[in-house]
Amino acid sequence: MLIVPNSPSGRLSGDLGTALNSKVAEKTVKRFPDGELYVRINGDLSAQDVVVVGSTQTDSDIIEMLLTLDAVREASAKRVIAVFPYFGYSRQHRTYNPGEPVSSRVLTRSFSACADLMYAVDLHDEETLKFSSGPFKNIRIIESIGKHFSNHGIDYVVSPDDGGSRRAEEVAEVLQVESFYLNKVRIDSRTVRMEVPDVQLDGKRVLLVDDIISTGGTIMKSASIMREKGASKVYISAVHGIFTNDSANKIRNAADEVAVTDTLETQYSTISIAEEIAERIRDDL
Ligand code: R5P
Repeated sequence: MLIVPNSPSGRLSGDLGTALNSKVAEKTVKRFPDGELYVRINGDLSAQDVVVVGSTQTDSDIIEMLLTLDAVREASAKRVIAVFPYFGYSRQHRTYNPGEPVSSRVLTRSFSACADLMYAVDLHDEETLKFSSGPFKNIRIIESIGKHFSNHGIDYVVSPDDGGSRRAEEVAEVLQVESFYLNKVRIDSRTVRMEVPDVQLDGKRVLLVDDIISTGGTIMKSASIMREKGASKVYISAVHGIFTNDSANKIRNAADEVAVTDTLETQYSTISIAEEIAERIRDDL
């Protein structure tokens, strides 16, 4: 088996190579003078299972993934396997207003035309899996987050919304503590109120877990509610840390620790998911 890294996932590709005891291929990525992307994978890929690892957060990442998958196919790989640590556009898995595309369907169809097997990590909605023409699996990250916080004396794991309550429950199971979720009540088109269930938080240590931190608005508001309710320590975690605009700076003061996984490589990506991905690939191949 050989790992081929895409530009946004170099570190994770290396760690996955170590976990799977596989070499990481060398690759050239550059731009033609007119701005088009050029990729070339060095070395012999023929008759091997080749795993291409790349988050697709930006449009450039998406093109790199498509070109790389095609290059692997051209090089006569045995199987072309795509791993999307962060699968961009997955929040548009349906139309919300007339005239919109189903963006995650467009991308899933395009990628699956170039790969034999695909994995994404904590897709925002598993509806996206159905758009694939071949096997497409979602790897949910629970263990690695739980283990990271196992020595923090956590009392409660909390999801900022109902949608993430299962994740919070499962992380809580790893830590053998209780979990709950905040109830988002929409007051009007611009105002949302977050309600906390009747739980005594005075002096308690709380771990907030979400799938994505983008602007940081949701998780920072949740952290401030936990403090208002008397929590002595508030930790923030998520699978995917996008941290748009200035949120990477703002979030630092919102919690006692911020730790996200390395699906996107940021200053807060202190939780490695290489082992959890390797386990799934080993089981399947
Ligand atoms: C919402 O459904 C998601 O689970 C996240 O809570 C949301 O995407 C976070 O976005 P932001 O950081 O911009 O509040």
